[in-house]
Amino acid sequence: MLPKLNVYAVPSLADPKELEIGTVVVIDILRATTTIVHAIAAGATAVVPCASVEDAQRLAEILHETDDTTSVLLAGERDCLPIPGFDLGNSPSEYRPEVVFRAVIILTTTNGTQAFQVCRRAQRVLVGAFVNASAVLKALFEESHAVHLLCSGIEGEFTRDDTLFAGMLVDHLERKSGLRYELNAQAITARENWRAAFAPPYSSGAEPIPPEMLAAQLRNSAAGEKLIAAGMESDIYDAARIDLFTCLPTFDPTSGIIVG
Ligand code: MLT
Repeated sequence: MLPKLNVYAVPSLADPKELEIGTVVVIDILRATTTIVHAIAAGATAVVPCASVEDAQRLAEILHETDDTTSVLLAGERDCLPIPGFDLGNSPSEYRPEVVFRAVIILTTTNGTQAFQVCRRAQRVLVGAFVNASAVLKALFEESHAVHLLCSGIEGEFTRDDTLFAGMLVDHLERKSGLRYELNAQAITARENWRAAFAPPYSSGAEPIPPEMLAAQLRNSAAGEKLIAAGMESDIYDAARIDLFTCLPTFDPTSGIIVG
């Protein structure tokens, strides 16, 4: 039997039971998973994705009460904007070593942190973004059972930034893993959209894609348009820097914590 290679354009299309077998990659290019990779690369001890602002605040209080030696930072966005009273927003550039080194970051975002909740029964969950693309691919090359590329979408709808990355992973896995896969329909669509966006040698990975070129594609997405309207266009460029980092954050479905 061929290993499955599934793309889910929005979390509601994924059956949590199916995610139990193989490796899941959670994807929210603009911006949650890009930001998480930045945070871990900058030395954060852990990121805890929370579904709601209230859950995040409650967890921060508990952590402060039980351990006052660890720096705990509340982070996230609603409608792209920083949440009043929180320490950090959701812009990757905020997550610098001098800010987040050795901190535990409690993160709540509109879509990305919700997608992790769908993976609570999964075996292995990776955090994927263009900024750590090769690290994700390397881990997926070793997965012979099933690969699930779980796009966060935007408020229940598909957004092109996520599916472009999923399409790149599908294309590169097929070309380079040495395995043949059984693709679902969304995986075929994502791969074809990736190939339509970037001609060879860029689509194949033979030539690196300059951030300006990828950012132009990401701008043309529902999440990109929303960020531009909110005055945060520079975050799109930061999300388009392929392989800026080599780290591979993983989400532990039992504890609900992401570590590097
Ligand atoms: C999210 O997780 O909802 C997104 O990252 C949205 C954003 O960053 O504004």
